[in-house]
Parts: sequence; structure tokens; C-alpha cells
Amino acid sequence: MTTAARSRTRRRRRRVAFVVAPLLVVVSGIGAFVALDRFAPDALAARVGAVLPSGWLGAPSVPAAGGPAPGLTTEGSATPDAPPAATPDPPGADEPEPPPTVEPPGRGYDIDSPGSVTVVVNKRRPLDPLEYAPDDLVPVAGAAVTMRAAAAEALADLRADAQRDGSPIAVHSATRTYLEQRTTFEGWVAQLGDEKAERASARAGYSEHQTGLAVDVVALGDPCGVMSCFGQTDASAWLVANAYRYGFVVRYGDGHESWTGYKAEPWHLRYVGSGLAAAVHEEGEPSLEEFFGLEPAPDYGE
Ligand code: DAL
Ligand code: ZN
Repeated sequence: MTTAARSRTRRRRRRVAFVVAPLLVVVSGIGAFVALDRFAPDALAARVGAVLPSGWLGAPSVPAAGGPAPGLTTEGSATPDAPPAATPDPPGADEPEPPPTVEPPGRGYDIDSPGSVTVVVNKRRPLDPLEYAPDDLVPVAGAAVTMRAAAAEALADLRADAQRDGSPIAVHSATRTYLEQRTTFEGWVAQLGDEKAERASARAGYSEHQTGLAVDVVALGDPCGVMSCFGQTDASAWLVANAYRYGFVVRYGDGHESWTGYKAEPWHLRYVGSGLAAAVHEEGEPSLEEFFGLEPAPDYGE
């Protein structure tokens, strides 16, 4: 090759290098960018996100659907100084279930104190003490008996309205002391025998008549006489419909003997106060045992 030919060849190689070198720089730059992007945290997270917990690889947590992104108010204005709003846990998510609340029987009424107007006394719930006697007994108007003051006052109103409505009611018996109840029970045992007496009369210490809140009534002027057929009288029907208005319940209703321990006594009224009497009436006149969720008291549990 001549000197002139060698010179032309060198110039051609320099021109090719001049064109190719920048191309190589550009191509390798693009390759590097693509490689970096493939292994960027977000891209990696997108590919393995299904198996990695949120927060790995610096992946941002996803705002709740419909909720504002962290650092934005609901109006969309940036609040860079405010910490991201904590997502509230669903109620009870991580807390153990609280034990179920077991309400004691009584529905908030005092059914235990012997001096409470809402005390429940039966064959499983003796008075405590057995010889309890109230200290606010007053004479009952128009009768030779006593009752606690509130009960006596309510009974006077009841009798006045029953008379107004044409069903006059008289009082046969009311408060009895422990000793008087014992005498009464023993009288029934002598007359009826043990089994029938237990279904008609309470042993001393187990009778509502000791509380000063119970009264046995009769239909005034009705040939029924004392107690035996009282349930068929107008006075009985009037009491079933109205006694609750004065704070009384017919304590031993028909069909409740398995709860109360006594055959029906439509003449035996028990003063419980107007609030409880209305609540019992509202629920269809269950026995107090049923109303309060107490155990049945068919006997003394011996
Ligand atoms: N006759 C009712 C049950 C009493 O003796 O208390
Ligand atoms: Zn009675």
C-alpha cells in the first residue's frame, strides 16, 4: 500500500470512531438506566408485594380506599407537619372479648332487704331475720289491722276508687307478726293437713304478711264470703284490672303455683310500689319470681 493509501485508511477509521463512540455512550447509558429501574424498591415491591409485608423495601403503605392520603386533609391541602392519621383498629380487633356481664336477679330493685317495698319473700327466700317486723306500721282506715304507711295510704285510695266503680272491697287481714304467722300456719295444718296447708299458708318467717305490705281482701256485700270464691267476684275483676295503678300486685295468680309455691289467692294483694307494679302489669302479670328471674319456689327445698 502506498503512503497516500495508508493515510486515507487512517482518516476513514477516525471518522468511523468519531461517529460510533458517542453512540456507544448513549446505548450503555440507556442500558444502565433500565437495569437500575428494574431493581428500584418500588418496582421490586410491585413484583414481590404479594408475599412481603407492607413496609418492606421502603414501599409506601397504601391509603385506605376512599380515605385521604397520609399528610392530606380531607380537603386535599397538604399538612406536612401533621403526623399521618392512625388508621383506627376495628372495635375489639386486638382486645380480648370482655366476659359477659351476669346481672344479679332483681333487675335493679332491692329484693333482699326485709324493709324494702320490693322485697321478694317465698319458700326459698325467708325474711332475714326470720322474726323481722317493720317499724312504720299504721292503722288501715276502716279496718282493725295495720300496714306500713305507704301501703296503707295506697290501699285507702284503691278502696275509695273500687267503691266509686261499684266493686267495694273490705279488708280481712293484713300484717301479722312472726308469732301470729306461726299460729295461722298451724291453724291451717290442723284444719287441712300438712300437704294442703303448705299450698295455702306460709311458715313463720316466710310470709309476706310479716312485711307489713300484704293484705287479704273480701268483696264487700258479695255472698261469696271470705276468700273461697273471691276470684269470681266483680271486686276480683276490678283488682286484676286496676290494682297496679295503686302499687299493688295480685301476688299469687292462677297458674303460677310452680313458681310461688301457693295455689291461686286472688284476694292476697302485695304492695310493691307503683313503679314495680306497673312494670309487672306491663309484662302480663307474671309472678315476682318470674319477673325477677329468680329460681322457682315450689317448696322449702328440704
Ligand atoms: N297465704 C300466704 C301465702 C301467706 O300465708 O303468707
Ligand atoms: Zn294473704
